[in-house]
Amino acid sequence: MKKTHKEINEAGVYPQELMLLASEPKYYGRMNSPTSSAYIKGPCGDEMEFYLVIEDNVIKDVAFYTEGCIATRVCGSMTAGLAKGKQIGEALGISPKQVMELLEGLPVNHSHCTILAVSTLYKAIADYLLKP
Ligand code: FES
Repeated sequence: MKKTHKEINEAGVYPQELMLLASEPKYYGRMNSPTSSAYIKGPCGDEMEFYLVIEDNVIKDVAFYTEGCIATRVCGSMTAGLAKGKQIGEALGISPKQVMELLEGLPVNHSHCTILAVSTLYKAIADYLLKP
């Protein structure tokens, strides 16, 4: 019998869609000349970097970089995809819960990876807002 996403979540097993996303994550890499950027090391030791190109308060381009686990990569990719094209005020409305819901099947013991990704995005936006 096929497992539901909830059962997969509880088993700590990644669905195939998330494995594919982790193998070729969109927006993955570092940026040479971002408008702003941020780095956070999570309590688990995983690190996340976000790079933004912001023009007229719109996130025109975004990239993230991590050498963390599968969950960290897919959370970075999903967060970056949600942020691209948004006004910075809208991007600050992106939540870890939203990322968790969109990454259906993400093991619940990796929910903190959504917080790391979204927090790093917020910090990159703050870096832009606080520039003189
Ligand atoms: Fe800690 Fe992913 S395992 S951020």
